[in-house]
Amino acid sequence: MQSDPPLSPGSIVTGWKRRWIARRNRIIGSARFQRWAAGNPLTRPIARRKAGGLFDLVAGFTYSQTLAAAAESGLIALLAEGPMGIAEVRARCGLSERGAALLLRASHAIGLAQEVAPGEWMLGQQGAALRGNAGVLAMVRHHRLLYADLADPLALLRGDRAEATQLSDFWTYAGEPGAAARDHFNTHAYSELMASSQAMVAEQVLAAYRFDRHSAMLDVGGGYGGFARAVASAHPSVKLGIFDLPGVLQRHSSDPAIPSADAPTLHPGNFFRDPIPVGYDCISLVRILHDHDDGPAMALLTAIRESLEPGAVLVIAEPMAGTRGAQKMGDAYFGLYLWVMRSGRPRRAEEIGALLDAAGFRRWRRIGTDLPVITSLIVATA
Ligand SMILES: C[S@@+](CC[C@H](N)C(=O)[O-])C[C@H]1O[C@@H](n2cnc3c(N)ncnc32)[C@H](O)[C@@H]1O
Repeated sequence: MQSDPPLSPGSIVTGWKRRWIARRNRIIGSARFQRWAAGNPLTRPIARRKAGGLFDLVAGFTYSQTLAAAAESGLIALLAEGPMGIAEVRARCGLSERGAALLLRASHAIGLAQEVAPGEWMLGQQGAALRGNAGVLAMVRHHRLLYADLADPLALLRGDRAEATQLSDFWTYAGEPGAAARDHFNTHAYSELMASSQAMVAEQVLAAYRFDRHSAMLDVGGGYGGFARAVASAHPSVKLGIFDLPGVLQRHSSDPAIPSADAPTLHPGNFFRDPIPVGYDCISLVRILHDHDDGPAMALLTAIRESLEPGAVLVIAEPMAGTRGAQKMGDAYFGLYLWVMRSGRPRRAEEIGALLDAAGFRRWRRIGTDLPVITSLIVATA
């Protein structure tokens, strides 16, 4: 049996905490205690909640696959049209009769669908929230790749990111340092995915930070420009630029879905090789830093700091690890996602702060957002 390491005088609290947690865990793990807690009317609600939470951990992948089936079959869009019978669901979603009934009942169990009268189905509350969120639905469809990659999680963790994955093939700039230097990769699939979920990120960032205190903002890794356009419509006085790989930016001129009126200045380039454009008193990195390992992330922050005049700021927006209310998203979801992608990691705000300090920024602060599950925010001053 492993014994506790000796305690230093400064770790009395830690020692006490460790003993308390060990005792608590022994009690919770005892079958006798579990039976007692479930049978006692006073503790029963807590026991049920805890057992339900544990079952969610055990079976969560079946919920995700129910969601994937509901999104991909078109069930969520269909139920938004109004009450539907099973026959119509079966025909329009291309399912067998029993399959349609099963999907409806499973969707009901996780809040996606609701049986309003016998045989009549509408969206449930979760389904209604999802229906209006094209970005999340696109992520649900995209998760097919992650789900396949995660089939053997231990192999992934033992492999130390050595093998290519479906996800690293999708994010063509990820997986090897300097991969973005190659000019032949397909950037459209990931750029579209990012564009579809950008609105909800921009909403959080714009509600938390006033960009109209700046005269010009450069969105580094700005993709198809959703964030820059959101800043432009909230603050028309701010001049905007976007820096991204040439393959991404060339779509701006050819894609009619990307409006060109008041278009931001485009700076095609590779932020690991090319200088960061100057003349901006604000630079944003939205969902960029966590894509990169510490070495490249540090190089990028240093290049950005060198491009900024003293007093100009860098705004970093991404989900962060160790964030109260968003631990599952930061540490579990992005922890695994970026591991499988073979590049980057979710960082705690303090870890980003340490990189900013090392890159020569004078100070940084964290700014709260309404939904840290979507993004957190750090503003650093050069
Ligand atoms: C995860 S996406 C985020 C896009 C956008 N900021 C958003 O939140 O929707 C990362 C972006 O960084 C760009 N990128 C990756 N490596 C790059 C590099 N070396 N130089 C320039 N842009 C790069 C990608 O093309 C992509 O548009």
